[in-house]
Amino acid sequence: MIHRILDKSKQKELESLFTSVFTSSEGEKEGILIGKLSSQLASNIDNNEIICFGVYENETLIGSIFFTRLIFSTPIQVYMLAPVAVSAEHQGKGIGQALINYGLNELKKRSVNVAVTYGDPSFYSKIGFQALSENLIQAPLKLSMPFGWLGQSLTGEPIPTINEHPVCVKEFNDPVYW
Ligand SMILES: CC(C)(COP(=O)(O)OP(=O)(O)OC[C@H]1O[C@@H](n2cnc3c(N)ncnc32)[C@H](O)[C@@H]1OP(=O)(O)O)[C@@H](O)C(=O)NCCC(=O)NCCS
Repeated sequence: MIHRILDKSKQKELESLFTSVFTSSEGEKEGILIGKLSSQLASNIDNNEIICFGVYENETLIGSIFFTRLIFSTPIQVYMLAPVAVSAEHQGKGIGQALINYGLNELKKRSVNVAVTYGDPSFYSKIGFQALSENLIQAPLKLSMPFGWLGQSLTGEPIPTINEHPVCVKEFNDPVYW
């Protein structure tokens, strides 16, 4: 199992992975939606505003995560983890958690302050995420499930209060994802 930082050249592999994983877990409509999202994100990977990590087994991409920057005018680095996928036949073996931990460590090396995500607290709490109040860090768009707004500090310091509304990358600027 090898972890890698991925670039735009992996766009097709990423679209196919996310489409098949989300079609299996959430149905065809969600598979197409998240497949398209991952393709758009992949085509704009710059390893700064959009960062992508992958896990390979025998040169086949079996899992991937994206981190995208939330922009504040305050000088603080906050990245959002989404989406995440591990291929159906490899799920439940610790691959997703290991990949996320690899990504979080890469962000720590880059002096990122906070990682946030939006998803199932029962899964993300296994890798250090906790409920995040919008009094500390606001979501870029209105949340349909506020209990899914999660965060973790990557500095050892408590998550700071940022009294400002963030801007997400344009690919996520659609209420359908929130
Ligand atoms: C969620 C996902 C990335 C986890 O990767 P994984 O390699 O299967 O996960 P791991 O083996 O590292 O961890 C498994 C643990 O997470 C839990 N888990 C896995 N998928 C879960 C989900 N969708 N919701 C809640 N818990 C989940 C398992 O119960 C397991 O818990 P345990 O270790 O206490 O038994 C993967 O299952 C996946 O791609 N699912 C479909 C797409 C998806 O839901 N993505 C996340 C939303 S963006």
